[in-house]
This record gives sequence, structure tokens and C-alpha cells, in this order.
Amino acid sequence: IHETHFPNSLSSLSVDTENLQKQIDELSSFSDSPAPSVTRILYSEKDVSARRYIKNLMAVAGLSVREDAVGNIFGRWSGYEPELPPVSTGSHTDAIPYSGKYDGVVGVLGAIEAIGVLKRSGFKPKRSLEVIMFTSEEPTRFGISCLGSRLMAGSKGLAEQLKKTVDSENVSFFDAARSAGYANVEELSTVSLEKGSYSAFVELHIEQGPILEEAATHIGIVTAIAAPASIKVDFEGNGGHAGAVLMPQRNDAGLAAAELALAVEKHVLASGSIDTVGTVGILELHPGAINSIPSRSHLEIDTRDIDEKRRNTVIEKIHQSALSIASGRKVKLSEFRIVNQDPPAISDELIIKAAESASEVLKLSYKKMISRAYHDSLFMARVSPMGMIFIPCYKGYSHKPEEFASMDNIANGVKVLALTLAKLSLV
Ligand code: GLV
Ligand code: MN
Ligand code: MN
Ligand code: MN
Repeated sequence: IHETHFPNSLSSLSVDTENLQKQIDELSSFSDSPAPSVTRILYSEKDVSARRYIKNLMAVAGLSVREDAVGNIFGRWSGYEPELPPVSTGSHTDAIPYSGKYDGVVGVLGAIEAIGVLKRSGFKPKRSLEVIMFTSEEPTRFGISCLGSRLMAGSKGLAEQLKKTVDSENVSFFDAARSAGYANVEELSTVSLEKGSYSAFVELHIEQGPILEEAATHIGIVTAIAAPASIKVDFEGNGGHAGAVLMPQRNDAGLAAAELALAVEKHVLASGSIDTVGTVGILELHPGAINSIPSRSHLEIDTRDIDEKRRNTVIEKIHQSALSIASGRKVKLSEFRIVNQDPPAISDELIIKAAESASEVLKLSYKKMISRAYHDSLFMARVSPMGMIFIPCYKGYSHKPEEFASMDNIANGVKVLALTLAKLSLV
């Protein structure tokens, strides 16, 4: 056992694919939209069911389970030197509206299975291994992405912001958390981690892009995560009757929003890099009646780049456009709020090497790549060395019901994760 046992006996690494598929399918049934789509929103009844399901699996896997004040869930397998900072792994199980059943889930169920693989192989970790299910990686309900990991990373200002945060039905963040059973949610400072709490954090995730599948490569090893930002914008005009108010008299907040959406595309394309992206995923008009000129409009803009400076330049240009569109259309720009403007994260060399050598030992092809999607790893990188393992997914589809990853690919990812965790636990 101990070091000598490992990783010599590769044949003893067996993924229980049948059980893992069953768990993925069962978890997907906790959804507020019909299959094959999945909708699982933070602190909803379905989210609470999913949490219960994960905690039970962790307990069955022999992990000691705890939850923090916002519901980040931790399952620990104690190492034989339990006083050392543990190695952690994990992802999220919340799902944006009408998405698929693999995003995040593969990195939580796959992590629990990776622990199972190691346990069955007879491996004993030196550092403890810990599986984390992060609260609300997706920004759906409160507009804040990676909420659990952001708080763990000690994000300044977020705790203050959350005191005033409400969802679209005006339910406060605190009330929502309490209704999901997190009575101590107001103790947000207890969620943050000291730097060095973990010796490493590794996240397994579907690629959410087409590169691995197109290159017929088994494993992606992430070297950096692109820098995301999101912005909320409100325009206000006078509204009025769609027949009676003549065109020269209008100040249409809806058209201002439409113009800004096109400006986002223009500025993103003008960056000169294919790596710059921008999306207006939310555009709401008030009052939303066919025969009423929009008196208010609301946009939410997502923009990302691997180059933080270039992305920030795009944000500045979007702001300039919002101001000039407002003045040109005589509407008020009542809000232009940068909700988050995160820096990119760089993977740790030692973790990259561990994942590379795990892939080599397993005779799996791999490729180093950047992550264009963000992940809880982006924030864990602030308190721990970080790395990510990607597996191919069908046509790169994600955030839609057609999202799919084959069990062969998932099992490969679980094995690479298992070996990577094992290696890091012995460092
Ligand atoms: C994560 O879901 C992202 O939007 O990148
Ligand atoms: Mn996602
Ligand atoms: Mn995800
Ligand atoms: Mn707003």
C-alpha cells in the first residue's frame, strides 16, 4: 500500500461506469424543466434535492461531510498525514435554465467516483482528499457567478453586496438560503478560506467546446482560464402609446437597448482577436406590450477574453456607446453596473505535470488548452494552486439540452483525475 502500491497497479483502477451513469441520470431528474433539458436553480426545491443526493453519495463513499454557511459541500477522505493541507477537487451541480446534465455534474459525481476508484485500488492518500460541491457556479438566480467559490476566495465586497441582493421575484439572497436550510447564511465571513488551506485544487469538467472531439483527443489539460466580466445596463425613456406618439417625439428605451446590443458586437469584433467574445443574453423591455413604446429596457452583457486588458478596453467602449446612445436617443442611462470584472487564472505547473503524467501512464492522448468558460477553479486559484482536466463533449455543446459526454470519455477523465489526486496527495 502507500506510495509503493501506486501507480504501478493500473489494472486495479476501475471506474464503476454503470453506477456513475445511473447517478448522472438520477441527478438530472431533479429539474424544473422537462428532460432532456435540466434546470436547477440555486436554493430551489430541486437544488435542495440535488444537494441531499450529493451529501448522501459522499457519505456512502465513506467521506466525512460538512457544509458551510452558503452550502458549499465538502466530503473529506482523511489521509495518513491529516494535518497537511488537503488536495481538493470538485465542481457544481446547479444548472442554468434549459441546459444539460453534464456541465459541473461530471466534476462532482466524477470526483466522488475518483475517490471510489482510489479506495478500491487500495491506495492510501498522505494528504487528505476532499471533494467540493460549490454553491451556485451559475449566475442565474442572483446574477453572481461562482458565488460559493468567490466567497471561499474571500472576495471583498461580495459579502456586503449580498446583503442587498434579491432575485427577480424580490426574494433576498439570505431568505432564499434560509429557505434551503442554511440558517447561518449571514455568517458569510466563515466561508472564506485562508490561502494555503489546500495544497492543490483540481476540477474535472466537460470541455464545453469542440476542440478535443475534433482532434479525437481524450483529455484536455487547462493552462489558463479566460477572464470573464458581466455588466447590467438600464435605459429609461418616456414610453407612451404606440399609435399616438409620433416618431420624432419618441425616446424609445427599447431601441437604445437594441443599439447597444449591436455596439457590443461591433466592439468585440473590433478587438482584432478571435479570443474576444461578447453576448447580450438578457434584454428586457418594459412594459412589454405590443402597443406601448418601451419606457425602460434592461440588458445584461457577458464579455470575455484571455487578455484582461483587451477585455477591459471592450468594456470601456461599451460604456462610451451606452452614454452616446442615451444622449442621441434622449433616454436616461440609469444604470451601467459592472457586476464582475475578473482577472484570468493560470494553472499551476505541478498540477499540469501531474495530469500530464497521469494521462501518459493511462495511455490517453492529451492536449494543453485554455478554458474559455469560467469555472469555480478561477476563484480557487486565488487561494490554492489550481488545475483543470477537460474531457470531450459532443460537438462542444453546452448550456443546452443536447449537451452530451460519453461514458468512455467520462471514465477516462475520472481515471486521470484519480491518478492526479493520488500523485498530488503524496507530494
Ligand atoms: C460558466 O457556466 C460560464 O458561463 O462560463
Ligand atoms: Mn455552465
Ligand atoms: Mn460548469
Ligand atoms: Mn439593472
